[in-house]
Amino acid sequence: MKALVLAGGSGTRLRPFSHTMAKQLVPVANKPVLRHVLEAVRDAGVTDVGVIVGSRGAEIRQAIGDGDGLGLDLTFIPQEAPLGLAHCVVAASEFLAGESFMMYLGDNIIVDGLAGFVREFQGSGADAQILLSKVPDPEHYGIAEVDAQGRIIGLVEKPARPKSDLAVVGLYLFGPAIHTAVRSIQPSRRGELEITDAVQWLIERGGAVRSHLLRGYWKDTGRVDDVLECNRAFLEGIAPAMLGKVDADTEVIGRVSIGRDVTVQGSRLVGPLIIGDGSTVVDSHVGPFTSIGAGCHIEGASMDYSILMESVTVRGIRGLHGSVIGRQSTLSPPASALRTSRIVTGDHSHLQIFQH
Ligand code: G1P
Repeated sequence: MKALVLAGGSGTRLRPFSHTMAKQLVPVANKPVLRHVLEAVRDAGVTDVGVIVGSRGAEIRQAIGDGDGLGLDLTFIPQEAPLGLAHCVVAASEFLAGESFMMYLGDNIIVDGLAGFVREFQGSGADAQILLSKVPDPEHYGIAEVDAQGRIIGLVEKPARPKSDLAVVGLYLFGPAIHTAVRSIQPSRRGELEITDAVQWLIERGGAVRSHLLRGYWKDTGRVDDVLECNRAFLEGIAPAMLGKVDADTEVIGRVSIGRDVTVQGSRLVGPLIIGDGSTVVDSHVGPFTSIGAGCHIEGASMDYSILMESVTVRGIRGLHGSVIGRQSTLSPPASALRTSRIVTGDHSHLQIFQH
C-alpha cells in the first residue's frame, strides 16, 4: 500500500500565519502538523509516500527533507493549482500506479494512530473506506448520511442543510476504482473536484464503500482555534524531558519537556508544556497547554493555552491566553509612560487587548 499526503492547500482560514508559511507547517507541540501526519503514516506501516505540494512546495520540501529522518521514501508531486482533493488523485496517478492507497490530508490530526483502520481496509476488498466523526458544525465538512445499519447512503460536501452530524475525516483508503471515479465527476460549485463527489460516484454505481466511526480525537487544523485545541491534545501525551538548566528557584509541575540549552530561572512551569531548544524563561509563569518554540525569550510574563513559534520574545506581559504568536515577534509593554498601546502587526491579524 502507498500513501498520498496532501499538502497543497493555501489555508486562507489560517491567516495571518498562512501569509508567510505553508499551513501544514504550523507547529503543534513544536512540530509541524505535516510531520505529525507523516509520522502517523509511517507508524501505520506505510513507507512509500507521495506528497502533493502547491505554490509552497519548496518550503515544504525544505522543512520535511527527503523523508530519510522519518524512515519514509517521499516523492513530491506538484499540483499546478488547488483544483480539489479528487484532482490530487489525478495528479498522482502515475505515482499511485493502480495500487491501493491511503489518502491523508496534511492538516488533519488523528491522535490515536491509523494502523487499525488500515488493517481493516486491507482485509475487506472494499473500493473505499472512509472515517466519520461526529461534529457540532456539520456545514463545514463533507457529511455522510448513513442507514440504521451504519451503511453510507450518500455523501455531500459542506451541505447548507446537513442530514447528519457525521463529518468525513481527512483520511481515506482507496482501491483502484477511485481512479475512474475522479475522472468521471464534474467540478463543484466552488470549482473543485471534490473527493466527496468521487466517493458518492462509487456509491451510486454499487461500489463497496465502507465507513468507520472514529471515537478517538480528530481535528482539521484549518483554523487558529483548532490549532490551539490540537496543541492541547498532543501535549496531553508528551513525554517529560529535562535537557536544559532549571535553577533552584523554579517550580516544575506536571509533564514538562525542556529542550537543549534552555535556561529557566525563578519561574513556575506547569505541564503539559514544551519548551524548544535554546529558549530562556525568567521570572515567569508558563503553562499549562503551552508550546514555546526554539529560541524564545520570556521574561516577567505569564501565559497558558498558547503557542509561541520560533524566536518570539515576550517581556513584561501577563495573562496571555489562547494566543498564537508568529516567528520572531516581540511583545512588551510601552516604552514610555504614555498609557497607549503600539501595535505593529501583519495582514489579517487578530488582536484582543485587555484594557485595565
Ligand atoms: C476537506 C474535505 C471535507 C472533509 C474535510 C476534513 O475539506 O473536502 O469533505 O470533511 O477536509 O478535514 P476542506 O478542509 O478542504 O475544506
